[in-house]
Amino acid sequence: MATKRLVSKNVEKKLFLHNTYTSFQYNFLKTKKQELNMKRLVMGAVAAAVLATSGLAADYTLKFSHVVSDNTPKGKAARFFEQRLEELSGGKIDVQVYPSSQLYKDNAVLKAIRLDSVQMAAPSFSKFGKIVPQLSIFDLPFLFRDTNHLHAVQDGTVGEKLKGLVTKKGIVALSFWDNGFKQLSSSKKALIAPSDAKGQKFRIMSSKVLEAQFHAVGANPQMMPFSEVYSGLQQGVIDGQENTNSNIFTKKFYEVQKYLTVTNHGYLGYLVVMSKKFWNKLPADLQANVKQAMKEATDEERRLAQELNDSQFAKIKEYAAKSGKLEIINLSADQIGAWRTAVSKIYPEFYSKKTIGEDLIKETINTK
Ligand code: SIN
Repeated sequence: MATKRLVSKNVEKKLFLHNTYTSFQYNFLKTKKQELNMKRLVMGAVAAAVLATSGLAADYTLKFSHVVSDNTPKGKAARFFEQRLEELSGGKIDVQVYPSSQLYKDNAVLKAIRLDSVQMAAPSFSKFGKIVPQLSIFDLPFLFRDTNHLHAVQDGTVGEKLKGLVTKKGIVALSFWDNGFKQLSSSKKALIAPSDAKGQKFRIMSSKVLEAQFHAVGANPQMMPFSEVYSGLQQGVIDGQENTNSNIFTKKFYEVQKYLTVTNHGYLGYLVVMSKKFWNKLPADLQANVKQAMKEATDEERRLAQELNDSQFAKIKEYAAKSGKLEIINLSADQIGAWRTAVSKIYPEFYSKKTIGEDLIKETINTK
């Protein structure tokens, strides 16, 4: 199947791409791509083999692996990047996006990036824990005042320092992408006061900060890959989880939970990274194309993150109202304050330079 996909992509590119490549031609190409996708269903093995050896390949193949659905901010931005980079490079780079953990689960992708087995990924910050623990600063609960503060941090000196730490580990750090702020859900007990979390088992990403956050309220955190959360909730291996509305909606976690509390207590975002080996192979003009496509994809991603989290939350609310199987809980300012007090006390645990570092946390808080 993979061979056929490559063959059809290569055929379409060499047939329709040339140096004076325009958007109009690209749209035409996308239509052709659909036609070719249909054709490949009936294409026999012999025809595929002939085409595969006819020298129609792009100069570079870039596999982009991620764990969420296509219909998420990251999923859509990855597709946007695919289209723009293929367009800008005149088809010299063939971008192949693999969503929903089809290639690699969670942390495994970073090893694959270092080996150049896959060329791009956008793991959430928690998943860099073993190589750059400072990135888990983004997991600290109630750290960001709002999205403007968050973007000022990512686009400023803190963001540059964090990217620098990743670069030192032999991985090219391209851009920060958003998902949004996280909510809490449970099938065991409604989460209104922090004490309601006591004794409940919550799935977390592999982050020491998230572990400490749940310990702070007497809960029992369990690290688990994203791809296993739905079945974990369904089978009662875990009682609850924290995630953005977009991830809760697209992975259907709401179907296997009884309570969803709007807390916005923590942030979920990504660092888009590229294999250094792949980057170093690219000539300067194609590196410039990657940077330009990434800049545009990042602007688009930030817009989509807000839009999708809002629209997908509306769909969760619709499900709750229609099915009567999910209770959505909105907290008062005082109730949010109680959660903030309960979990923010973990910050000093991460003052050591071996974890995040006090300076970095203070610099983040003081970023205007
Ligand atoms: C993701 O958004 O990439 C997955 C986040 C998670 O593991 O919860």
